[in-house]
Amino acid sequence: PNTIPSICGLPLKYVSLVTLAVQNALLTLIMHYSRVSAAPSHTYSAAAAVLLTELLKGSISLVVAFTRLDSYAPQYLPNGTPATNSCWNPWLLLARFRRLGKEVFRSDCWKLSIPAILYALPRAVIQNNLQFVAVSNLEAATFQVSYQMKILTTAAFSVLLLRKKLSTTKWLALLFLAIGVGVVQIQNVGHKSAESTEHDMNAFKGFMAVVAACFTSGLAGVYFEMVLKNSTGDLWVRNVQLSLFSLLPALVPIIFSGSSSTTPTSSGWFSTSLFDNFGVWAWATVLTQVLGGLLTALVIKYADNILKGFATSLSIVISFLASVALFSFPITVSFLVGSFVVLIATWLYNQPDTASSSSTTGSE
Ligand code: C5P
Repeated sequence: PNTIPSICGLPLKYVSLVTLAVQNALLTLIMHYSRVSAAPSHTYSAAAAVLLTELLKGSISLVVAFTRLDSYAPQYLPNGTPATNSCWNPWLLLARFRRLGKEVFRSDCWKLSIPAILYALPRAVIQNNLQFVAVSNLEAATFQVSYQMKILTTAAFSVLLLRKKLSTTKWLALLFLAIGVGVVQIQNVGHKSAESTEHDMNAFKGFMAVVAACFTSGLAGVYFEMVLKNSTGDLWVRNVQLSLFSLLPALVPIIFSGSSSTTPTSSGWFSTSLFDNFGVWAWATVLTQVLGGLLTALVIKYADNILKGFATSLSIVISFLASVALFSFPITVSFLVGSFVVLIATWLYNQPDTASSSSTTGSE
């Protein structure tokens, strides 16, 4: 299990981390553009986007899991199977389908219901928060930086549940990360002080929602890592199980919106038809989220959740630069200082440990 695959000679661990950073920045910009830039009456259904994402991610994982079964299918072949290795051999195909079914519905598949529900909660918060961003003019990059606080909750859950040991340097790096995120938050508060009290209340509610999302997101990621690393089972089969369980929370808002479809609101959850206004940008959001989900799974398997957090904070820089160009994001000193501290923290975390006590980065 410790062999790390590579792409073009580059370890999959780093390829997946960097790709995830780029994907995260892209997702923030696309979601911002697709939901905030459109008039409220023309927003697409967020529930439809979530459902499509789960269906697509699950289908892709199912196909990958199916193809990967090749290497360990023979024992599932019925007696008297013709000895041809053609992939169109119906006996082989049948054996693989049976094996896939057995793998997906194995006795411990219920474990994935926990991250499925936990992942659904921050998703709902993010959705509400982006609505809130639209109302209060908070910028996409600021929201994304606040959400990076999940790195602290992730580290805490990794220590608690996975018994990871973090060196003093690594804890210091995490502290710097929290400070960096905090500095950007100060800039945020200053930005709003000129506005109304109601506006400040919304900002506070939004911030508390992000804090709550950080807890569920951190726990969900670490729980998924625990299932992957503490039990057998192919990553792609685990992804299929996660998607299957995620379909339930994804369907809830759709079922509820069905009963209130005569009263469409601007929230996007209650549009008259599920696929109203589902244009190019909506599809771009779905596809980027599918990519993100698959990359996240790879990163959790080949690196870990703490490193994943640092990779996504790298995306702050990318989306910040893009926000300046695309949405005229104001360059403030505190944003620059905050982002700089976040980067320093990332660098510090990746310094080799002097003591041999840390097992954080797993297999290097
Ligand atoms: O915000 P956070 O980093 O926790 O988001 C991770 C995302 O990755 C979630 O939206 C979750 O649905 C997705 N994911 C996935 N497949 C996995 C693990 C996470 O799609 N195996």
